Amino acid sequence: EDPERLAAFQARIDAGEKIEPKDWMPAGYRKTLIRQIGQHAHSEIVGQLPEGNWITRAPTLERKAILLAKVQDEAGHGLYLYCAAETLGVSRDEMTEMLLDGRMKYSSIFNYPTLTWADMGAVGWLVDGAAIMNQVPLQRTSFGPYARAMIRVCKEESFHQRQGYDIMMKVAQGTPAQKAMAQNALNRLWYPSLMMFGPSDKDSVHSAQSMAWKIKMNTNDELRQKFVDQTVPQAEYLGLSVPDETLKWDDQKGGYDFAEPDWEEFHQVIQGNGPCNTERLAARNKAWDDGKWVRDGLLAHAEKRKLRKVA
Ligand code: 3HC
Repeated sequence: EDPERLAAFQARIDAGEKIEPKDWMPAGYRKTLIRQIGQHAHSEIVGQLPEGNWITRAPTLERKAILLAKVQDEAGHGLYLYCAAETLGVSRDEMTEMLLDGRMKYSSIFNYPTLTWADMGAVGWLVDGAAIMNQVPLQRTSFGPYARAMIRVCKEESFHQRQGYDIMMKVAQGTPAQKAMAQNALNRLWYPSLMMFGPSDKDSVHSAQSMAWKIKMNTNDELRQKFVDQTVPQAEYLGLSVPDETLKWDDQKGGYDFAEPDWEEFHQVIQGNGPCNTERLAARNKAWDDGKWVRDGLLAHAEKRKLRKVA
């Protein structure tokens, strides 16, 4: 690529300008965005599965309506994000195929099971809480369609986080058995939530270039630290304990020292060997196959209309 063009592009990024779909961009910038936005979209879509699992078993009609709305929001986020990625020259069908045959990733967190109703609380509180931590800065990302999609997505994610915390409050203030259920959900989902931010900075392949291009605004470790600092007092307020014996406030750093997740487990999960990877991909493949008749019908209808117009 022409060095002058590259320098002019970087100058636009450094000046805080937004890059729009029809602007010139380096091939690597386009590729990284397709990967990141596509994976983000897939995470929203696959992310419906662990919570969808509890819609029929929500304890009250009100909880059911809230959960249903939340899961529908995730579908909406997936659709905005696929549209943002499409402006870069990849089709939604191509991205879907890459998800279904394992060429594209989705967030590691959705490969863990949701075993009890308290998990609905913990997912909203921790998983959506981690998602917001990562996505609020992305509202300022350099690619216009992605930044704009993030504004709406973040508003909805913040409702999701609050509804999760509200479930946790209710369960944690319940009977001793209910409180134990809340603690158990926190125990199981704490480290997988920390993994959502990606590998530690020294192992993050893409961070340096993505930060220079403002595709990412913070490093993985920076956001993980912010998440821990925000979440520990929330756990204390619930009367629950974070499953980390090394957790300690560090006055000098102005943040908590905490134990890193098990990175070997993280690598296994992103390579397809987590507890629910097979189940999640099978569910998405089944949905795609079951929807074939709808796609075929719509295409046949569009074809007929086109012929009618020509005649
Ligand atoms: N799960 C799966 N894969 C992950 C991962 C995770 N938690 N964290 C990192 N990876 C992968 C990367 O994709 C990359 O693999 P690849 O080259 O095959 O794509 C590899 O691990 C190395 O990691 P890097 O740190 O170099 O990768 P990135 O620079 O892309 O950083 C990221 C990872 C911080 C997740 C970044 O991609 C990002 O900010 N993405 C946008 C946000 C996003 O995707 N969020 C999904 C969260 S879930 C969600 O939003 C749903 C909500 O409703 C709860």
